[in-house]
Amino acid sequence: MSDQQSSFDSVLSEDRVFPPSPDAGASLGGAWIDSMESYRDLHAKSVADPEGFWAAAAEDLDWFSHWDTVLEWNLPDARWFIGGTLNACWNCVDRHVESGHGDEVAIVWEGEPMPGGEPDVRHLTYAEVQDKVIRFAAALKGLGIGKGDIVTIYMGMVPELAIACLACARIGAPHSVIFGGFSSQAIVDRVEDADSRIVITCDGAWRRGLIVPLKDNVDEAARNTDRIEHVVVLKRCENEVQWIDGRDAWWHDLMESGDGPVECPCEPMDSEDMLFLLYTSGSTGKPKGIMHTTGGYMVYTMLTSRYTFNLRPDCDQMYWCTADVGWITGHSYIIYGVMANRVPTLMYEGAPNHPEPDRFWSIVERHKVTQFYTAPTAIRAFMKWGDEHPAKHDLSSLKLLGTVGEPINPEAWMWYHRVIGSQRCPIVDTWWQTETGGHMITPLPAVTPTVPGSCTLPFLGIDAIVCDERGNEVPPNSGGLLAIRTPWPSMLRGVYGDRQRFIDTYFSTVDGMYFAGDSARRDDRGYFWIMGRVDDVINVSGHRLGTMEVESALVSHSSVVEAAVVGMPHEIKGTGIAAFVTLDPSGEPGDELKVALREHVAKEIGAIAKPDMIRFTDALPKTRSGKIMRRLLRDIAAGAESTGDVTTLEDFSVLAKLRDDEE
Ligand code: WTA
Repeated sequence: MSDQQSSFDSVLSEDRVFPPSPDAGASLGGAWIDSMESYRDLHAKSVADPEGFWAAAAEDLDWFSHWDTVLEWNLPDARWFIGGTLNACWNCVDRHVESGHGDEVAIVWEGEPMPGGEPDVRHLTYAEVQDKVIRFAAALKGLGIGKGDIVTIYMGMVPELAIACLACARIGAPHSVIFGGFSSQAIVDRVEDADSRIVITCDGAWRRGLIVPLKDNVDEAARNTDRIEHVVVLKRCENEVQWIDGRDAWWHDLMESGDGPVECPCEPMDSEDMLFLLYTSGSTGKPKGIMHTTGGYMVYTMLTSRYTFNLRPDCDQMYWCTADVGWITGHSYIIYGVMANRVPTLMYEGAPNHPEPDRFWSIVERHKVTQFYTAPTAIRAFMKWGDEHPAKHDLSSLKLLGTVGEPINPEAWMWYHRVIGSQRCPIVDTWWQTETGGHMITPLPAVTPTVPGSCTLPFLGIDAIVCDERGNEVPPNSGGLLAIRTPWPSMLRGVYGDRQRFIDTYFSTVDGMYFAGDSARRDDRGYFWIMGRVDDVINVSGHRLGTMEVESALVSHSSVVEAAVVGMPHEIKGTGIAAFVTLDPSGEPGDELKVALREHVAKEIGAIAKPDMIRFTDALPKTRSGKIMRRLLRDIAAGAESTGDVTTLEDFSVLAKLRDDEE
């Protein structure tokens, strides 16, 4: 059981059930499913006849040619809508223009700086997005990029990031978006793994009043790999950049070349053609490229966006997801799922507390946000900053709140409900993963009674269980492995270039099923409670990191011989990073080295991976077979007395030493 979960239990009373809020659904234009009975009925039918259910859902997309077979399932390989062809960009943009909605707002954007107290705001209609996407898609083709070429995108949160993704989708070039907070080394690793020849970036990105030098990071990456042939640069910050003629091109030059209308039709893509690759951390080695394909992903993200958030066109909705497009949440629930539903999607460039801690609430008020989707770590930060910040703003436009990324502690849930939602907005706590593509376990607004801390029940078509390794369900209220019994349309299709890792990670732990890497329990009501990762992945501020990744970054420093990284409870981040480090004789333990190591990790991975605590030790506690005793380290990091069996510990003095060194 994770540390976080045990702290939940102490404040949790399971009879704190919040009834559904049908009013919230009604004020959004109606609920797609309007009662618990209809959910249970539809869920049972969708699981009994997934092909019938998903075929009906898929009819809501435009297909260039219809599929012949809904599903082919040969564990671990699922193929959906076989024989069908479609284009994701067409479904998110062109079809809305074709059907007469070109003048409606597709993307609302707010920049971080507030010159003169007013932010930069842009409203882009579907017709404008279409025009930009066509121009950029044509430009990509002009650079020799075509169907099947993987395009790396490393940008800040600007509308052009969505435009770049959609342009890739338009020409059938899978994108690989790298979060702008990652380092140049992360770019090198991903570009090489994906064999990507082109990087789209910005001169810089605004973050908390400072410029993140994205182009410099790409330049540095390009010095360390020979794969990058083209760098396209969007001018965002007037940040001075170095230029390599022949390799670098300005976005605006590419968009403006050629007078008159540019043509670049949507490429008909096979349903199973790759839409994108997104790297995520696993328990071993370097991040793995999760592959998502076109048809199933679009069907699933469109339907989940619609049902979980009650998205409806023509109902004055303004949907805002605060994630970065660099994560799966941004892919599915800023771009694809939302735009497919023809509801405006709001993008904000910067930090939640710039220039003041009320920034998010001023955005909600200014744009009359109706659905708001964020992460527990942000909610905890808002709580800490104080109620006076949301109190300054009119939040009455809000109808629905969502959270994602990590378990939400009930205190944070209650605060969100009371202070942001005025006790009237339903909260959808959505459990899902990069690998699942879309929401897997989530309440449906206006339907599912919620309990703070529980993500409640599976989405339609999802057969989720808590089980042992043989796949047998465990009784209510006992912890077990969270697994999905049957395929769903947006499940990952593989790990790029590594078939064995795909099988080993997801289909080898529980017999015959997809294993999520999380443990969970179900209560008497059947509600799911996520207990946390059971592998060596930690969730830092809702961002996934592999402990091994951070360990290798530390070990690559000349003073470090060995490192062990574990999660530790953290008030805001949920999980913080604790590193136990043994040094080379040349290494001088002390604050200076701690600072240097933190910077080193930031350089190797990104600032999000900086350890919150570093302890120097003579040796790491290991079992006789040489495995690091992580449980012990976790206890020490949490400041707890280590309990449990330590008889396999090789050297007890190591433990004593660690204690002595406590900060
Ligand atoms: C965790 C993010 C509890 C979980 C969409 C999962 C959650 C990992 C929740 C995936 C939630 C995500 N409650 N835990 N509502 N949502 N997680 O791939 O451990 O960045 O396995 O996808 O985040 O993280 P990823």
